[in-house]
Amino acid sequence: MYRSHTCGELRIEHLNQSVTLSGWVSKIRKMGSMTFVDLRDRYGITQLAFNESVNADLMEEANKLGREFVIQIEGAVAERSSKNNQIPTGDIEIICAKLKVLNESLTPPFTIENETDGGDDIRMLYRYLDLRRDPVRKNLKLRHDLAQAIRNYLSDLDFMEVETPVLIKSTPEGARDFIVPSRLNPGQWYALPQSPQTFKQLLMVSGFDRYFQIVKCFRDEDLRADRQPEFTQIDCELSFVDRDDILDIFEGMTKYLFEKTKNISLGSFPRMTYADAMKYYGSDKPDTRFGMKFVELKSPENKIDLISGKDFALFDTAEAVIGICAEGQSVLTRKQIDSYVDYVKRPQIGATGIIWCRVELDGSVKSSVDKFYSPEDLAKWVEHFGAKPGDMIFVMAGKLEKTQKQLSELRLHLGNELNLRNSSVFSPLWVVDFPLLEWDEDANRYHAMHHPFTSPLIQDMALMETDPGRVRANAYDLVINGVEIGGGSIRIFDQHLQRKMFNLLGFTTEEAEYQFGFLLNAFKYGAPPHGGIALGFDRLCSLFGGSDSIRDFIAFPKNNSGRDVMIDAPSNLNKDQLKDLVILPAAN
Ligand code: AMO
Repeated sequence: MYRSHTCGELRIEHLNQSVTLSGWVSKIRKMGSMTFVDLRDRYGITQLAFNESVNADLMEEANKLGREFVIQIEGAVAERSSKNNQIPTGDIEIICAKLKVLNESLTPPFTIENETDGGDDIRMLYRYLDLRRDPVRKNLKLRHDLAQAIRNYLSDLDFMEVETPVLIKSTPEGARDFIVPSRLNPGQWYALPQSPQTFKQLLMVSGFDRYFQIVKCFRDEDLRADRQPEFTQIDCELSFVDRDDILDIFEGMTKYLFEKTKNISLGSFPRMTYADAMKYYGSDKPDTRFGMKFVELKSPENKIDLISGKDFALFDTAEAVIGICAEGQSVLTRKQIDSYVDYVKRPQIGATGIIWCRVELDGSVKSSVDKFYSPEDLAKWVEHFGAKPGDMIFVMAGKLEKTQKQLSELRLHLGNELNLRNSSVFSPLWVVDFPLLEWDEDANRYHAMHHPFTSPLIQDMALMETDPGRVRANAYDLVINGVEIGGGSIRIFDQHLQRKMFNLLGFTTEEAEYQFGFLLNAFKYGAPPHGGIALGFDRLCSLFGGSDSIRDFIAFPKNNSGRDVMIDAPSNLNKDQLKDLVILPAAN
């Protein structure tokens, strides 16, 4: 028997019991005639005591231990004279009678403690040691708990987990595929799935009715804190449902997860159209933990113009002039405002500047455009924004979409600077009615904004012929705290409409047949109306764990260049492998 208890288990009620523990040496403290060792395993830390006057030989052995040695001890549980109320086992220690070294360890390259001295790179190189640290292990435990809760929740609602293949066919839509050469079919390639989209739809044709899968997906795209080349989706599809059925089920699931793992009960999730999300937040994934909604000073579309005709060329020539009001921020100094200007001028955002308008505590108004706008003009702005004495207005101008994006960046930056983005506050919403298509200037064609299987809104169907760019999709995203947690849609299930959609996306009949013939065929055999959603599981975990980086919630993540530095992948293949795969001609 390696152990009678774990290192997190023993309490004062175990006093005087003989126990056997196994684990890793976390810390050694030599204090004259006593040596104390912190023994660690997945469950916690237990203090071991070696006393020279009780057993001098054993203490000498203990003194030879190194950090991260794997040991087994036998001893008796005793009450500690100085208790440690920071850990659950802090009232007791083990007076050791036997010690066995099960394995030695080199000195680890960083300290394996909650606060480590190891930088990101070294911790990734030795990820198996990093995973011994409590905060990282806690993250993976949270991931496990969430996965478990999701499986139970969906199974209870009759969802069936079905595995779909990982070696599939490359498609030109969406992100880039990762491809895999086929040795048995020389010169041909599989692709790894970006999502199981078409397979889950085929399962609906097969009558599975409610499917889910916690599934790995692969996308060869540029990486960020919330993007990994391989990531996990909670992928779901349902038959005989409309949009609201789907939103209700997954809103219910999200609330259940918050209650179960965080003891937080959320109210019902607001629903915002894509058009409103862009108008009021300049983003299709608005962070609604704080206000600062956009206010238009000039918008031809909404027939608003409070600012033209005052000889201020920037505003006169701009397509849109939009602003936000930062409550209570009239105290901002010129230096702070300048730092915001520098922020939006960074190439990633690319704005030319910010116009500000300060409502002093006495109600008077100062602005960076006092030369052009009289106090009466500015008073109109203040009224339009609903600003109060002590507030600060920031305004940006330019092409509509670009300005919305830039102002959205400023809003989020201010949210950070003013501590309005508290990671223990959760603000979920559904964004609905996305555009069906987006125009790609470079390729001179439409792309599906969600994917080509998404159904248009019935009421916009006629626009498919006349003005496809204005067609809205029956698509929705779940957004929490400014993060796109999930997305889905009601699908096209009629083969003729699906063909029309491929046609709009610039596929010839032959191309559509070559890429998606299997789906179009399946639709000829009684496809039910269906729809679904996929939640990004890594993002969900990092949201629940209060971190911006999904890497912290993946056991073995890749770095920003898509490398696993620990196993050193991707790597070169030898010539024979390449010849076998016909990537190199046999003659080489
Ligand atoms: P979509 O492409 O919106 O939809 O993906 C669903 C969710 O997956 C997460 N996600 C990612 N997470 C980490 N790293 C990535 N590279 C990454 N890419 C996406 C996001 C996103 O909301 N088949 C459709 C779903 C459907 O229509 O049912 C799909 O894949 O949280």
